[in-house]
Amino acid sequence: MRIVRTIAETRRAVADLKEPSRTLGLVPTMGALHEGHLSLVRAARSRCDAVVVSLFVNPTQFGPNEDLSKYPRTFEADCALLEAEKVDLLFAPEAAEVYPPGAQTFVEVEDLSRRLDGASRPGHFRGVATVVAKLFHIVAPNLAFFGQKDAAQVAVLRRMVRDLNFDVELVVCPIVREPDGLALSSRNRYLSAEDRRHALVLSRALRRVEEQAAAGVVDAEPLLAAGHAVVAEEPAVRLDYFRVVDTDTLEDLPRIDQGALIAVAAWVGPARLIDNALLPPR
Ligand code: PAJ
Repeated sequence: MRIVRTIAETRRAVADLKEPSRTLGLVPTMGALHEGHLSLVRAARSRCDAVVVSLFVNPTQFGPNEDLSKYPRTFEADCALLEAEKVDLLFAPEAAEVYPPGAQTFVEVEDLSRRLDGASRPGHFRGVATVVAKLFHIVAPNLAFFGQKDAAQVAVLRRMVRDLNFDVELVVCPIVREPDGLALSSRNRYLSAEDRRHALVLSRALRRVEEQAAAGVVDAEPLLAAGHAVVAEEPAVRLDYFRVVDTDTLEDLPRIDQGALIAVAAWVGPARLIDNALLPPR
């Protein structure tokens, strides 16, 4: 695996990888890699001739009081994991390479960026859309791989790709969980053993909603009540949102007949965790 730090080197390396008939896949990450990230890398490996991973803790998607400086950084271990997955190229730039002094151009998916996590993290999705747009320009992948874990991020990026005519196909991969249901996240490293136990209430609440939906409940209100009741079993968990929304617009849905996204976010100890489940149309 070749590791490159600059945009110019990346462009040259990508040109070498991307002979006319080859499919190039990109997996954007912020590092502190776990099996969730690696599932995207494996999906890319199986569908593409060449795989590029980016590792960049993107400052513009962190709010002033968020965990940018404390975000876990495990570069050596990440490289070893990516090497083992036979990644061709790792693009790991410094912040000044991605945002030159005086940078003042941003990508904003206006309405979607203010929903779900965007409501409690103002500016977050503007940072995500901007950095992913930059990565698409720099790497020019045919396919780009994202996790369903960040469902709102997927909705924002789909809209950006459509609105700005990016010539890339987004591939969305399922949420990877621990055997006990906890969705893998780089931020799980912040959790004490006790926090971790409390955090299980999120996947449990989603499962309860899925069960109710499978049993025939179609109105959002009783589904949300069931989910809230489970979260309330752990008073240490401070809920940010628990919603039933449209997968593409992220707007609240009164009913789930046409399918829906159930999304939850909560503070557990020092970490803000998110999780979700897709309800199929009936
Ligand atoms: P990061 O949090 O590092 O996640 C990188 C990718 O891994 C995202 O597409 C995310 O949805 C996926 N992922 C994380 N946990 C997962 C899990 N348990 N199962 C499946 N996929 C999972 O998301 C970002 O970085 C950034 O916002 C980024 C897109 C890189 C832009 O900076």
